[in-house]
Amino acid sequence: MDNKKINVGILFGGKSAEHEVSLRSAKNVIDAIDKEKYNPVLIGINKEGKWLLNDSSCFLLNSDDPEKIKLNPASDDVVMAPQCSGEIANLSRSDFNKSIDVIFPILHGPFGEDGTVQGLLKLANIPFVGAGVLGSAVGMDKDVMNRLLRDAGLPIAKFIVLNYTDKPDYAKTVEELGLPMFVKPANLGSSVGVSKVHNQEEFDKAVIDAFQYDTKLIIEENINGREIECSVLGNSNPIASLPGEVILKDDFYSYETKYINEDGASIEIPAKLSEDIIKQIQDLAVETFKVLSCEGLARVDFFLQPDNKVVVNEINTIPGFTSISMYPKLWEASGIGYTELIDKLIQLAFERFGREQKLKTSYTDE
Ligand SMILES: Nc1ncnc2c1ncn2[C@@H]1O[C@H](COP(=O)(O)OP(=O)(O)O)[C@@H](O)[C@H]1O
Ligand SMILES: [Mg+2]
Repeated sequence: MDNKKINVGILFGGKSAEHEVSLRSAKNVIDAIDKEKYNPVLIGINKEGKWLLNDSSCFLLNSDDPEKIKLNPASDDVVMAPQCSGEIANLSRSDFNKSIDVIFPILHGPFGEDGTVQGLLKLANIPFVGAGVLGSAVGMDKDVMNRLLRDAGLPIAKFIVLNYTDKPDYAKTVEELGLPMFVKPANLGSSVGVSKVHNQEEFDKAVIDAFQYDTKLIIEENINGREIECSVLGNSNPIASLPGEVILKDDFYSYETKYINEDGASIEIPAKLSEDIIKQIQDLAVETFKVLSCEGLARVDFFLQPDNKVVVNEINTIPGFTSISMYPKLWEASGIGYTELIDKLIQLAFERFGREQKLKTSYTDE
């Protein structure tokens, strides 16, 4: 019976500042996945980047405490080799054999959401959920993302890029972007290293702080507006959910507000918006998804300004999947429950894989 089920490798944890968020997301996906149809195979990536084959009954320590949650280290080490087509190996045990049909990466931030893991999965020749190498990399890099959106004529904030070789120039930056402004590492998430800057002192501090996380920064003009998020699902014909709103009490949606200060923000699903604005946001979400070469899923985040102008803030190609996360909640509000959503995402992974398998890999006929 069991061997008729589809083996879904759930890849979670990871070498990233968002490791703990990923553990919580994975727990919810594992709880909600249809166990009649799918057999979840848990692969936890520890903070050193090692892959561990976990037992679903004890893969987390302190699972109910978001501050102390940890990956259980007592597990087999596994690896995935090029062209393994889903056979994972344990280098110290030759009798070990585990076959996986599809991978669901639930990894946030660099080394997971940025195309690196997606490249490995492509080399391994296994179907996987979500954006491919290009969409993942583009979605992670706020500089490249902004350039592509700007090129497509989509509304974004004015921004400049600062490379580690550039000399920061406060006066010139203020002249271009005004005050306050936002300094961010180009490749990160969860607001890690993001600062709102009002003066030179804060600017200098923000630049030093952000350069701890990346060798490239973006600096943006401040957009004053409501924070609206929209979920997208699909491959060639993606659809958008009803939008939701992050209602902030704090100054901006910082790391502390997202994960520590429970009173800093609340979520409203669906967002209270006119039909016109909902339609405009949904259309922009789908367009953003397409322009950035995404597949499977993404959450697109916006600012809605007081004059009703909509600005695209960013895309997240592997959005949070915890029980309170916006991505699954927005689908729930739009008529697709958590278990059905996971099923659809896995089916989209197979659809893309089948399509790509048909492409010729040789110019000469053999
Ligand atoms: N240009 C901006 N104008 C106003 N607020 C911003 C701007 N950029 C970022 N923020 C605030 O900072 C938060 C985190 O920035 P974001 O670009 O979404 O980074 P992350 O990928 O880390 O979530 C946003 O949700 C918002 O509250
Ligand atoms: Mg964000």
